Amino acid sequence: MDYQAFINEQIDSIRGAVGNDIAINALSGGVDSSVVTVLGHRAIGKRLKTVFIDSALMRQGEPERVVKTFADMGIFVQIVDARAEFLNVLKGLTDPEEKRNAVTKTFYATVFGKLVRETGAKTLLHGTILTDIEETVAGIKRQHNILAQVGIDPEKEYGYKVLEPLQTLRKDGVREVAKILKLPAEITQRIPFPGPALATRIVGEVTEERLAVVRAATAIVEEDLAGTGAFQYMAILLNDRATGILKGQREFGQIIVVRCLNSVDARTATAVELSWEKLHRICERITSLEGVNRCLYDLTPKPPATIEYI
Ligand code: XMP
Repeated sequence: MDYQAFINEQIDSIRGAVGNDIAINALSGGVDSSVVTVLGHRAIGKRLKTVFIDSALMRQGEPERVVKTFADMGIFVQIVDARAEFLNVLKGLTDPEEKRNAVTKTFYATVFGKLVRETGAKTLLHGTILTDIEETVAGIKRQHNILAQVGIDPEKEYGYKVLEPLQTLRKDGVREVAKILKLPAEITQRIPFPGPALATRIVGEVTEERLAVVRAATAIVEEDLAGTGAFQYMAILLNDRATGILKGQREFGQIIVVRCLNSVDARTATAVELSWEKLHRICERITSLEGVNRCLYDLTPKPPATIEYI
């Protein structure tokens, strides 16, 4: 594929679709939304308002990191604090698809609905990629950013158009485009992170306390596995508890699963054969988190598993 031609086509098409209006996009800092942000800014400059939605579901230090990376590229990113909205709708939900739907609805209807009204934007640029569409259409899971393909007309339901410049690419293609756009390596080589964020890594109810546990475990896994070159690695909080020992006393503690996968395009994946030394170190660090007394390494490939747990 001629990625330079792809870039030129997408820039022209964004310009054509937005006209003289304002557009808006949400940047998470992942490679997909980062590429869309740069394409959008090349197409319409400051008429693209880029926001980082702080949903309470993000990783440690993420909002500050993303704002700084883009400020260094001359792109202003506004942080929108929507933590309360997301935590409220997730309260009491345990079913995976209900959780995904709650995040999607809050994102598009509540948070974006308000932003669109405030900014006067008529178009939302979105980083949907081909794998997201395929898995949703196949009924595997409803990806966060899929609207038209599941019969939602965003213009009618939310009052704005959605443009998806990356919908013909898979992750490997997006990374090629990112390199041509000269995005920094911390973005082009960044491991994928799903739209519903840490909500996909908590089995059972998503609460502030449970988010804090999975966030701390995620930071450990990302630090320890950064040099592996794996496609994706993560920590998951299970909804079960297990007996353990804390300061000589019985403890009924939490269980974290670690996953580290090789994949090209996320359609299939296999577990990475990590050294015992690495696994032991991660296990030791994770079980030193308060309330966590088990750490498991998941060997299941995709299929039959999916990459995320939700
Ligand atoms: P699964 O869990 O379906 O994940 O095997 C495949 C890849 O997609 C990421 N993922 C998402 N990405 N919105 C996204 O943009 C989502 O709702 C979503 N769910 C999963 C996942 O991290 C993996 O790389």
